[in-house]
Amino acid sequence: MAMSETATEATGISNPRGLPITTGTQSHPPANEDGYRSFEAGDFAFRRDAYFVHITWPDGRHQMPIDAFLRALMRDVAWGFFYGTVNFDTVFGTTNYYGEVEMFAGATNDAYVSAGRDFIQRFKSDELMGVFRQMVSDWTNAGYDPFAAPMETGAPWGAKNGSNEEAVTRQRVTAKRMVGLPGDTPLRGDESHPVNRSFTDVDQSQPEVHAEPGFEHEVSAFNLFGYLSRSDVTWNPSVCSVVKDSLFCPTTEEFILPVEHGNDRCEWFVQLSDQIIWDVKDGATGRPRAVVTMRAGDVSCMPADIRHQGYSNKRSMLLVWENGSPKIPDLIRAGKAPVVSVSW
Ligand SMILES: [Fe+2]
Repeated sequence: MAMSETATEATGISNPRGLPITTGTQSHPPANEDGYRSFEAGDFAFRRDAYFVHITWPDGRHQMPIDAFLRALMRDVAWGFFYGTVNFDTVFGTTNYYGEVEMFAGATNDAYVSAGRDFIQRFKSDELMGVFRQMVSDWTNAGYDPFAAPMETGAPWGAKNGSNEEAVTRQRVTAKRMVGLPGDTPLRGDESHPVNRSFTDVDQSQPEVHAEPGFEHEVSAFNLFGYLSRSDVTWNPSVCSVVKDSLFCPTTEEFILPVEHGNDRCEWFVQLSDQIIWDVKDGATGRPRAVVTMRAGDVSCMPADIRHQGYSNKRSMLLVWENGSPKIPDLIRAGKAPVVSVSW
């Protein structure tokens, strides 16, 4: 995920909607013919069958194909609710307030909001995360990996069939300073991370470091392209270097970003290889704003008031550059920080 260990250390938790904390989550034993548990969090209820998740709340219901839901749920879990809003689709999602989280239906959808049909409840992050973890664990069958590209995993469909705990509990990469430093996140090798089928042409040599005597432990370098060529997951920006609040979060991408990410701060993208097409929509309403094609070498900055979803036909390398400061969302809400990083 693309947050540092300290990202949740905000001094106060913002609550711009003034919502009370909802408590109460439940995990029910398998009851339907497909053998899956059902879950509740506050007034939201979740059940899955062979093909779909069914989400209900007072006076509302929504369904998604289970593959799309599990891919989105996996990111929300692994990223700790991420920065800002994680839209699972145009209706359901979560907004992170770093310690507390809102779960919503229709709150970022123009039609739902204008009809007064949006529904939002606020939870302690730990409590909602607990039920999300149980859900992704119970609903992921043997052979299916919600983090993998569709061509690199089995199918999620059908009745309950085993589990894939190794996949859904992957340890996130969050370098404290930089990948490869002593005591920090290790480099990747053939044993644990073979080179991906799309990156067999990537140079695997490592840089030579010639430090001045006495500075051997203060200079380090590694081959980022080689490191990324060995990523076994997609759409999972991971902290690979940290300088104060500046986080380099490279990732490899294939197929579709499983969520529409609604930024609560500006976010830089550097396309390191191949191509991604981004659908950019208004963060609050979902109205289309732009389609951006990024080819290798292109740099863009996603504004703080949008949501974005990317499409990558061939596995590509993307550097996501985040400002991890916990102060930024409130500064933007108060109009004290701009929603774009650069203006001409
Ligand atoms: Fe994003």
